[in-house]
Amino acid sequence: MKPSASLFLALSTATLFLSSPVSNSQGAEAQNEFKPGEIWNDTAGAPINAHGGGFLLHNGVYYWYGELKIGKTWTPESNRSWGGTRVETVGVSCYSSSNLYNWKNEGVALAAVKDDPKHDLYKGKVLERPKVIYNETTSKFVMWMHIDSENYKLAHAGVAVSDSPKGPFHYIESTRPNDSMSRDMTVFKDDDGKAYLFYTSENNQTMHIALLSKDYLKPTSTFVRVFEGRSMEAPSVFKYKGRYYLMASGCTGWAPNAARSAVAENIMGPWKELGNPCIGPEAEITYRGQSAYILKAPGKTDSFIFVGDRWNPHNLQDSRYLWLPIQMTEKGFEVRWHDTWKLEE
Ligand code: DGJ
Repeated sequence: MKPSASLFLALSTATLFLSSPVSNSQGAEAQNEFKPGEIWNDTAGAPINAHGGGFLLHNGVYYWYGELKIGKTWTPESNRSWGGTRVETVGVSCYSSSNLYNWKNEGVALAAVKDDPKHDLYKGKVLERPKVIYNETTSKFVMWMHIDSENYKLAHAGVAVSDSPKGPFHYIESTRPNDSMSRDMTVFKDDDGKAYLFYTSENNQTMHIALLSKDYLKPTSTFVRVFEGRSMEAPSVFKYKGRYYLMASGCTGWAPNAARSAVAENIMGPWKELGNPCIGPEAEITYRGQSAYILKAPGKTDSFIFVGDRWNPHNLQDSRYLWLPIQMTEKGFEVRWHDTWKLEE
């Protein structure tokens, strides 16, 4: 039977609609694939500004927290020898999404302090790598972050708390966990509700893992030293089939280097290094990026996503994101480059 002219028209209009970019309610183009390294706009059409990010899945909604990098990049005198460029600290941004492609800007979850140079959140200090976990016992959202002085000599871990995933987070304090330096860090919440702070310590030489208190607000004295003398930064941790996996970078400031991976049967170790999980061109510089977080892909038990930063040290505000699929292997995992990719593939 021949379709009628009106049915034909309806079908061609539908096809045209489906193959055209779909707009969301705010008029910005909706995304349906990842484009690592390219500008990634939020649902209002502005570039996502959430660097060194951390993620939380809560009641079916994904939250992306990150460093807000706005304004001029400059090099403080104290950081000239190692290229430690800076932007003024503005705070921690929060975005929400139901599908990981399209992110709505939920505003500033933790704001910097403009007028008190002694405050940890003072605009002239460093706030990096915010990570948020939810505490089922206290019903609070807990944010951990790297707090530092402009010259990175303070080396503290800071903590803030909120009743809502979108904030506002109330800043509590920063410390050196177990009297040890803490710079790049992440938090990992295990299936049994215990949470751990992974932090680059001992002047960036050795990583520490500290069990957090039951309310997640303090590091406990239960801690281990791992990857001794290996100078690992940018830790990100995930669990697969009962094993713990870690991805991290070497220690070269904003400049990219070869990533490291490791596996452990027990989160407190021993950890076994597995080498660089990246494969192919630019694998030795993590595709010009650095790990920030490893995200479990929605609806799947065996798929993970590498979330990285591609820093622009001369214009930090223009730093980009690298999201790439993780392939689990017999020994560990691999991260391969894709110009574009979709979760459904
Ligand atoms: C490398 C770290 O991974 C980043 O978070 C940041 O602290 C830069 N160093 C600063 O140079």
